[in-house]
Amino acid sequence: MKKERMDKLTREACEHGKIIESMVFFENFLKAITNNDVENYLEKLHKFSDEYIVDHFRFEEQEVFPLLLEQGSAEEKKFVQELLEDHEQILASLAEFKKTISSCSTKPNREEIKHIIKSSETVVSKIILHARKEDKRLFPVLKKM
Ligand SMILES: [Fe+2]
Ligand SMILES: [Fe+2]
Repeated sequence: MKKERMDKLTREACEHGKIIESMVFFENFLKAITNNDVENYLEKLHKFSDEYIVDHFRFEEQEVFPLLLEQGSAEEKKFVQELLEDHEQILASLAEFKKTISSCSTKPNREEIKHIIKSSETVVSKIILHARKEDKRLFPVLKKM
């Protein structure tokens, strides 16, 4: 494997590790609600989504997926399309989650909390599934290139 590909793969693996670790951040949200810390959390959420999700997706779409689209098999090219659709869906869920939090009061009621939890679970499960899918099916392809 060429060094450049190796570097990309290393960055991928490292960022996935960070993304999975940061999922705890979503779990901590309930604590933020009880501590009246929603505003502070919202700021962190924007930072998380810009640094971990938006940047990571951009890196994959600009530097990793083109490798497969140029040199991959028909099946691997199809897989890239699937990953791109996942990205779109994750960004939409994340936007929905931010909207949910922004529209709740700083002291959310039971209904709002339920809505926040559901929305948060959707984002978390989509992100984890996607990262695992890439670990399992994208990394091996990059390794053999
Ligand atoms: Fe991805
Ligand atoms: Fe990824």
